[in-house]
Amino acid sequence: MAFIRAKSIALQQRAYQVMPLGVNSNFRYWGDGITPYMESAKGAYLWDVDGNRYIDYRLAFGPIILGHAFDEVDNMVIEEIKRGALGAMTSELEVALVEMIVDMCPAVEMVRLACSGTEATMHAARVARAYTGREVLLKFEGNYHGFQDYTLWSTYAPAEAYGNRLSPIPVPASSGIPRHLRDLIITLPFNDFEALERTLRSYGEQIAAIITEPCQGNCGAIEPQAGFLEYIREQCDRYGIVFILDEVKTGFRIANGGAQEYYKIKPDMATYAKALGNGYPIAAFGGKKEIMSIIGQGVAQGGTFNNNKAGVAAAFATLSLLREKPILKTIAERGLRLMGGLKEIFEENGIQVFFSGPPAMFSFAVGVDKVTCQRDWNLSDQEYTLRLAEAAIERGVMPDHDPREPWFLSYSHSDADIDETLNVYAEIVKIVERH
Ligand SMILES: Cc1ncc(COP(=O)(O)O)c(C=O)c1O
Repeated sequence: MAFIRAKSIALQQRAYQVMPLGVNSNFRYWGDGITPYMESAKGAYLWDVDGNRYIDYRLAFGPIILGHAFDEVDNMVIEEIKRGALGAMTSELEVALVEMIVDMCPAVEMVRLACSGTEATMHAARVARAYTGREVLLKFEGNYHGFQDYTLWSTYAPAEAYGNRLSPIPVPASSGIPRHLRDLIITLPFNDFEALERTLRSYGEQIAAIITEPCQGNCGAIEPQAGFLEYIREQCDRYGIVFILDEVKTGFRIANGGAQEYYKIKPDMATYAKALGNGYPIAAFGGKKEIMSIIGQGVAQGGTFNNNKAGVAAAFATLSLLREKPILKTIAERGLRLMGGLKEIFEENGIQVFFSGPPAMFSFAVGVDKVTCQRDWNLSDQEYTLRLAEAAIERGVMPDHDPREPWFLSYSHSDADIDETLNVYAEIVKIVERH
């Protein structure tokens, strides 16, 4: 079927009248006349309002771990919400869900639920501040921890704005972030052992928490260098800093126990959302009992929708399936085949490429031989990667329009989907020219 955009364009014009940029998240706007609008999704596929079908590698920015509209999850959600969608009262299912999270995640002894990744990181940061009696957070350039003002610094800015790596400048990612918060954030290049050591020597005793994504799920899936997460762990112990691992993208995706299991690292606290509920709104943050149990002891945390039945039931069903079947192993095998196939296509065409990330959420950077932090990644040929993505989308394969976003796989992506994807890339890598 020919690729058409007429209905998406018309809906965009209508949406412009009532929603800024015609969308409900800046990240969903790709540009005028090229932003797709969704009709439906099932399994590994998503259809736009024009009837174009895509093999979906965006998966709603990562949550869809089993597949879109996955029957076992949806059926449990429907059953639960028929018995009341929400109550200001704790249910047995909630307790059972949290028991399962504690059981699956090696460093997590106690949990509180929330509705989004942003809330999870915001709550975790407050608890860390309360626990240490300190106020400063340290984060790494290129990491994204949600839309809260405290950490929305040095996420997507051009590397030039970050200054010299010996003394990085925290750059707010939006107007409207209070400038006073600049005093409460330190930003450093990811994987820079020396910068971390030097910074902690000066400021270690003022820092409440080091928060990091285990691999940079919002910047080319850049992996931690050997020993980097362990170095953070060691330094946190040395200076009495809380180590928060933001597993909003990696949790229940790269291993049943998330990055803690995959990279064998024990943070003090961790945050979850996305794959936890296979697309339903649910999040969690947790960690050591000693830290988490200060909640309620002069430390505030709450939220009307934190125990919404749809999210809780979806998470219970999703985690149960992850435990019963080799789901993440299957995803990893298919992801590895996709990564390998794409790498071969680039190499056969003489294109330098660097692949990174676990197979369930991987990325590639063109025109560079190694990427260890956002400053390196910014040197890659993003314009070419974007034009490749646009050509793929017109042929029914949908990676994200933003090359910083990883390719996400679900349990519903079949070997045939991987083959189709590789065929499309084999074709377009020959057609799309690098400038
Ligand atoms: C690592 C990380 N933390 C936090 C968030 C924020 O999650 P949410 O969009 O659910 O608020 C995201 C979202 O992409 C994320 O990738």
